[in-house]
Amino acid sequence: MEKTFLMIKPDGVQRQLIGEIVNRFERKGLQLVGAKLMSIPTNLAEQHYGEHKGKPFYDELVSFITSGPVFAMVWQGENVVELTRKMMGKTNPKDAEPGTIRGDYSTQVSQNIIHGSDSLESAEREIALFFNQNELIKSENLINS
Ligand code: PPS
Repeated sequence: MEKTFLMIKPDGVQRQLIGEIVNRFERKGLQLVGAKLMSIPTNLAEQHYGEHKGKPFYDELVSFITSGPVFAMVWQGENVVELTRKMMGKTNPKDAEPGTIRGDYSTQVSQNIIHGSDSLESAEREIALFFNQNELIKSENLINS
C-alpha cells in the first residue's frame, strides 16, 4: 500500500490546526500509520530540503522549518501521494483553491501550513529521514486493513 510523508509546519502547529488537518485526511479514508510532534534540528532540515539548496528561498525555508515544533506524519492509502497533494492545494496559497488546506488557511508561500511528498520516491526518502521502521504501524496491525 502506498505511503506518503506529510508534515504540519510550525505555522500550522502554532495556529492549532493539527486536529483540523488530521481530521480531513481521516475523513477522506486515509490511514495514519505514524506521527510525532518534534523540533527539527538544522542538519535534518538541510537534508530534507537538500534539493532546494542554492535557491533564493532556501535559507528562509530552513530557518522557518526549524523555528518551532512540527507534526510529522506518515499516511497510507491508494494513490495517497497524489490525493494528499490535491487536498493540500498549490504550493503558493494565492493559487490554492478554496477547500484545500492551503487555500483555506494560508496566504503566504513562506508560511503555507503543510509539506507533502511530491512523488513515491520522495515519500520513501522523507519517511526514512524522519521515522524509524519501528515507529510505523504495520498494515496487518491496522483494524480496517
Ligand atoms: S521549486 O523551486 O519549484 O522546486 O520549489 P517549490 O516546489 O515550489 O517549493 C519548494 C519548497 O520551498 C517552499 N517555498 C518557499 N519558502 C519560502 N519562501 C518562498 N518564496 C518559497 N517558495 C517556495 C515551498 O513551500 C516548498 O516547501 P514544502 O515544504 O516542500 O512545501
